[in-house]
Parts: sequence; C-alpha cells; structure tokens
Amino acid sequence: MALAPSYEAPPAVPVHVAIIMDGNGRWAKARGLPRIAGHRQGAEAVRAAVRSCADLGVSYLTIYAFSSENWKRPPAEVDDLMGLLRLYLRRELAALERDGVRIRFIGDRSRLAPDITRLITESESSTAGNGQLTLTIALNYGGRYEILDAVRRIAAAARRGEFEPDDITEPIFEQYLQTTDVPDPDLLIRTSGEQRLSNFLLWQSAYTELVFTPTLWPDFKHHHLEEAIHEYQRRERRYGGTGG
Ligand code: FPP
Repeated sequence: MALAPSYEAPPAVPVHVAIIMDGNGRWAKARGLPRIAGHRQGAEAVRAAVRSCADLGVSYLTIYAFSSENWKRPPAEVDDLMGLLRLYLRRELAALERDGVRIRFIGDRSRLAPDITRLITESESSTAGNGQLTLTIALNYGGRYEILDAVRRIAAAARRGEFEPDDITEPIFEQYLQTTDVPDPDLLIRTSGEQRLSNFLLWQSAYTELVFTPTLWPDFKHHHLEEAIHEYQRRERRYGGTGG
C-alpha cells in the first residue's frame, strides 16, 4: 500500500480567503478623480467579492478595510473611509442576511465613532446565525497589536495562576486571538502589485499561500478571484514537510 503523502493536497476551493485590498488611490489618480472615488469603487468591489466567494463555495472571507496605521492618512480621507463603511453596513445588511452571510469584525474598536461601534454590534448579532459565508472585516486592525494583546491577557491569566508558562500551547494561544473561531487563511490575495503583509493576520498566515496580482482593487472582478484560486490550486502545500 502506498504511504500517505506527508503534504495535504489543496482542496478544490480554499476554505478561507483573505484579501489586502490595495490600489484604490492609484485607481482614482489614473482617472483624475479624488481618492474617495477609488474607495467608493473599492466598496463596490467588496460587494462583488462577497458574492463571488459565496458563489464559489468559499466559507470564510477576511478583508483588510482599515489598518491601525491608516489613521495617519489625512482626516478627510479617514472620514470618507468610515463613511463608506457606514453606508456599506446600512445598505448591505439586508442582502447579506438574505445570502446567509455572517459578519464579524476584528481590530480595536475603542477608537471608532460610537455609531460605527453600534452598527458593528448590530450587524454581528443580526447575522450571527448565518452559515453560508463568514465575512470578517478587519477595521482598525494590526497583527502585531493583536499578538501583543493576546500575550498581555495570557500573562495576566498566568499571574492569576490559571497557567504555568510551559502549558501555553499554540491552540491555547490562538484562543486569545481575535480570530479564535475562524480557521487560518488558505489563500491571501494582495492587489495592486505590492508584495507585503502590512501587519495583516501575522500569526494566522504562517502557512498561507500568498498570491499577488497587479490588478488594482477597484478593478478586481470575479475572474480575478478565480485566477487567484487557480494559482492556489497549482501550489503544493507542505506545511513544513518534504512533500512526498
Ligand atoms: C488601499 O488603497 C485601501 C484601503 C486603505 C481601504 C480599503 C477600503 C475599501 C475597499 C472601501 C471600504 C470598505 C468596505 C468594507 C466597505 P489605497 O488608498 O492605499 O490605494 P493606493 O495605494 O493606490 O493609494
């Protein structure tokens, strides 16, 4: 009998796709438009990507909507981005509910406007029972902060006598991350030709297949997602093993 291979053959479709949506500003600039026009078109691309993922049978989609570093942008652009998120949540909630999409947020909520925090809580609770696709929106999110925050809370638990430091295993550590009930991403796509993780899902993407595309986010369509998935399917995932 042949030995089972020590690598996992990739499934037909990745269970979890993560996307760094980059290039909104360049898309707008190329058309002589203000940056907000690029973000607006980017929000349309989000709507389409959610539908595409649901159609293709992806179970989890995580998108980087606003990084903890994005506060450095001009206040008017930050306001525009938050405004788009408000609009998206208000307008899309009914459609997301209908399509069986569960929404959840990761990131630090303490700096967000109270009405946004309210919208977040409402959309999370009203979609909590949906199971077709889980859409995680990373908002004021930073991977290093997420890890640091987990370390702080574990250290506090250890001080209370709940753990010996040697008992802290990877599965226990993961319970302290914000993505605790979501599997690690199988495929991470970054648009616009940049090839960095930019503080996104640092712990979770240890074995993730990375696909970079020159397409700017507002131009990202169903066929781009299919191409990225095909690229993923051509890869052989070894998780540190030898592959045979
Ligand atoms: C990067 O483009 C994109 C962002 C910082 C934000 C992503 C936001 C959206 C797609 C719209 C709103 C989101 C939701 C969930 C409705 P960039 O501005 O850095 O582009 P550039 O590198 O070309 O300047």
